[in-house]
Amino acid sequence: MQTRVNSTMTVSGAEQGSHCITFVNEKGGTGKSTLAVHLLVSLQAQGHGVAAVDLDTRQRTLSRYLQNRQQYHPQLPAVKVVVPPPSELDSRVEATEQECDELRELVGELARDHAFVIIDCPGSDSPRSRLAMTLANTLVTPLNDSFIDLDLLGQVEPEEFQVKRLSFFTETVWQARQQRALAKLPALDWVIARNRLTMLDARNKRRMNAALEDLQGRMACRYVPGLAERVIYRELFPGGLTLVDLANPQLRGVSMPRMTTSHLAARQELRNFMVALNLPLDGPVSG
Ligand SMILES: Nc1ncnc2c1ncn2[C@@H]1O[C@H](COP(=O)(O)OP(=O)(O)OP(=O)(O)O)[C@@H](O)[C@H]1O
Ligand SMILES: [Mg+2]
Repeated sequence: MQTRVNSTMTVSGAEQGSHCITFVNEKGGTGKSTLAVHLLVSLQAQGHGVAAVDLDTRQRTLSRYLQNRQQYHPQLPAVKVVVPPPSELDSRVEATEQECDELRELVGELARDHAFVIIDCPGSDSPRSRLAMTLANTLVTPLNDSFIDLDLLGQVEPEEFQVKRLSFFTETVWQARQQRALAKLPALDWVIARNRLTMLDARNKRRMNAALEDLQGRMACRYVPGLAERVIYRELFPGGLTLVDLANPQLRGVSMPRMTTSHLAARQELRNFMVALNLPLDGPVSG
């Protein structure tokens, strides 16, 4: 099902200089919520106003993360996070329309007061996720270094690891692009962020590189190194903390993992990821 863009809302968000970043991959468990929360806290730490929309109304990872943060560390600045409820209407068509209207309105409202709006999508296709793709200035698709995960973007032949055919998901991104073009919105920047990279599988990494180079041209996306596989990303959730917080003076006295060289490398990876996203960071900085 195609999702229409209400140009009035999105243009008004864009006119106010707000930038929408949507994390999407129909494949589950690729790191959408982990990257979303790290980006959110990084932007906030730089003084930018950020709000979040958690479209994963079942798992609610992003909102749970931020609730833990607020509950256990109330000294940290609060983050506005909204989980828009699913419609209760019986008719699927009407329910979809209601959900999409409400999401457009919500993102428009958040865009009025925040420089960045981050949307975290569930690991499945839905009309709301499609709309969130259309609303995005930057679309981030985290991808684990596995051909099973890559198959969701395009099918790869087994000799040269070149792409034979693009996937339904890639087609969905094209539709989002078309919708934005029709609404005369700026083109979206589609970023494939590799996640959970390991040092060990150099051969697999080379093959993934070849396939991604090929995909990059055909899908008008760009792939960037994301995060390496590190235990720290799994440890900080209960306290709602991120790598960015490890050296935060506001958290002096809070029990946290001791900073190691692996954590320093991880923080550098995160900074590199932020730079690679090429976000408009020159706008007004609050606080
Ligand atoms: N770089 C990483 N190193 C180690 N573990 C990671 C890394 N990135 C994510 N994880 C872990 O992988 C799992 C999935 O991550 P996450 O929940 O962020 O993915 P997701 O794409 O949001 O999943 P879903 O589609 O279910 O919403 C989590 O247990 C998370 O802690
Ligand atoms: Mg998630």
